[in-house]
Amino acid sequence: MPNHPTILVFDSGLGGLSVLREVVQAQPDTHYVYVADDAFFPYGHHSQEALIARVVPLMGELIAAHRPELVVIACNTASVQVLAQLRDAYATPFVGTVPAIKPACAQSTTKRVSVLGTKATVAREYTRGLIRDFGQGCEVTLVGSPELASLAEAALSGESVADDDIAAEIAPCFVGDAADPAARTDTIVLACTHFPLLLERLQRLAPWPVAWIDPAPAIARRVSDLMGPTGTKADQPGATLIFTSNKSHRLNGALTPFFGGRVPA
Ligand code: DGL
Repeated sequence: MPNHPTILVFDSGLGGLSVLREVVQAQPDTHYVYVADDAFFPYGHHSQEALIARVVPLMGELIAAHRPELVVIACNTASVQVLAQLRDAYATPFVGTVPAIKPACAQSTTKRVSVLGTKATVAREYTRGLIRDFGQGCEVTLVGSPELASLAEAALSGESVADDDIAAEIAPCFVGDAADPAARTDTIVLACTHFPLLLERLQRLAPWPVAWIDPAPAIARRVSDLMGPTGTKADQPGATLIFTSNKSHRLNGALTPFFGGRVPA
C-alpha cells in the first residue's frame, strides 16, 4: 500500500491527463491512479443509460481495488450524466468536470460564447441548465463535436492528425461578423477534457483569436480544498496507469510530464 494518500483520476481515454497535470501540481505528495476506460471510448457516442450501466459498477471495482481518498471524474461527458449516480452509490468524495460556462460568460466582452464538447455533453439538460443559470445575457452557441476527442486521442498516441480535420471540428464555434472583433465570438469553453491537449493547434487553426477556457485549474483548486495539506513524506509518491482495454503501456514514458515526472506503473 502506498504511504501517500491516493487520488483516482478517471476518463474515457487520455483526455483526463489535462486535468491530472493540474491536480498533480496542486497535490504533489499524493499517489495517482489514472484510469482510461478506453474499452468503452468514446463516451460521447453512448446513451446516458449505457454510460450509467458502464461507469457505476466499474467505479465500484476501482474504489475497492485502489481505496482512493478522492475520485476526480476528469470527463465532462461522464460528469454531466453519471456524477449524481456515483455520489449516490459510493461514500468516496467525487470531484466532477462540468462545462466552465459561468467563468466564460463572466469574462466575454462581446457576449458571444461557444461551448465545445462532445455531442452528448452539449445535448444534456445539465449543460443547458448551466447556460440558463450562468449565461449572464450571453449568446451561447453549443457545438457538439463528433470527432475531436478521437483526434486528440490519436495525436497524443503519436499518430499524425491533419490540420483540416481539426479546423472542421472547431469551425462552428466561430460565430458573428469575422471582420468586427466587437461582434464575434471571443470565448470558447473547452467542455471536453481531451481538447486542452490540442490547445496549441486550436489556437493556430482558429479563424480569429479567442480565449479558450480550460476548467483544469479550477478542478485542481477544488481537489486541494477537499484534500487539505497532505504533508511531505520521506518516500516519493508513485503513479499507476490503467487502460480498461488492457492495452500495453507503451505510452508510459511519453506521459510522465502529465504525472509530474512520475513514470506510471
Ligand atoms: N474526455 C471526455 C470529456 O471530457 C470525452 C471523450 C469521449 O467522448 O469519450 O467529455
